[in-house]
Amino acid sequence: MQVDGQAMRTIWRQQGDAGVFIIDQTQLPHRFVTRRLATVADAAEAILAMQVRGAPLIGAAAAYGMALAAADDPTDSALAAAADLLAGTRPTAVNLQWAVSRVLERLTPLPAAARALAAAVLATDIAEQDIGLNRAMGAHGVKLIEAIAAEKGPGQPVNILTHCNAGWLATVDRGTATAPIYEAYERGIAIHVYVDETRPRNQGASLTAWELGQQGVAHTVIPDNTGGHLMQHGLVDLVIVGTDRTTATGDVCNKIGTYLKALAAKDNGVPFYVAAPSPSIDFALRDGVAEIPIEQRSAAEVTHMTGVTAAGTIETVRITPEGSPVANYGFDVTPARLVSGLITERGVIAANAEALAAAFPERMIA
Ligand code: MRU
Repeated sequence: MQVDGQAMRTIWRQQGDAGVFIIDQTQLPHRFVTRRLATVADAAEAILAMQVRGAPLIGAAAAYGMALAAADDPTDSALAAAADLLAGTRPTAVNLQWAVSRVLERLTPLPAAARALAAAVLATDIAEQDIGLNRAMGAHGVKLIEAIAAEKGPGQPVNILTHCNAGWLATVDRGTATAPIYEAYERGIAIHVYVDETRPRNQGASLTAWELGQQGVAHTVIPDNTGGHLMQHGLVDLVIVGTDRTTATGDVCNKIGTYLKALAAKDNGVPFYVAAPSPSIDFALRDGVAEIPIEQRSAAEVTHMTGVTAAGTIETVRITPEGSPVANYGFDVTPARLVSGLITERGVIAANAEALAAAFPERMIA
């Protein structure tokens, strides 16, 4: 997608350079900073610090991290240690395990001397595949937007609410929840996006608003507790969110607060769709609430906020009384019964075990 009119991805390699380059997303929207990752430890640190984040990008960054590890030391023990290091960074997004397992499965049968090249090729394939999945989800999901636009009539924008950042910054390019949005925008359909700020890390306010603005998509940032009110007043036509892990039965784990939006959508008859590429689907799990590990994060994310001052300096301030205890769950689970459908690369399907099995028969686990 575009950054100041230039086409960019969130992660890339440069010819003649053994490193991997990323956008440091912790600096956005105030500063655009890139970083070079030289080792698997750099990759793990970038994921942990959320310089790269979003389930598909975490997966791609982990694959590139494994490639850096294989270039450094391709022995079985070194690759196992690299896989453990990466796997421990962010437990909820299943893409991380998916990507690391794919690299290990590819490398293990190979002689050590062939592993670095094979890992580099596979990491690039995983990144390219991500873009292909997002484009396919965009082509399927845009039909939902087109149908609403046709019903509303000319000049009436389709109002879409999204939570967190499931945009291109959360992937290699195009985004998951934003793929149908960018597709609609490029087809000239009038759209407007309500962007949940997404406390505590404000991925909506900082990242989704920034990337939509960079592409020229009309949007409005709203506090996290505003969506229900907007839905009651007919101001939201459609909700589209991403997912960090969706079960084989269609339960959807996504950024904390997604569940509350799904409840409000159900109560108000607003369609609630989840963009779920297959690497984000965990076919081994059936009960999302019971089985998906929910990352708990630092109290400082809740007690403090960071922003830019009028003088242009970036500062962090405390917003809670000193000593008040804090809970900081990173994700929640929206049960399948609240999900109108899953936008996958193979079409828009029902959020249930039968539809998932029919769409992805080769992934089903007996
Ligand atoms: O904690 P984050 O910023 O990695 O969380 C991101 C989300 O929850 C996204 O909605 C999800 O990863 C889907 S991204 C396409």
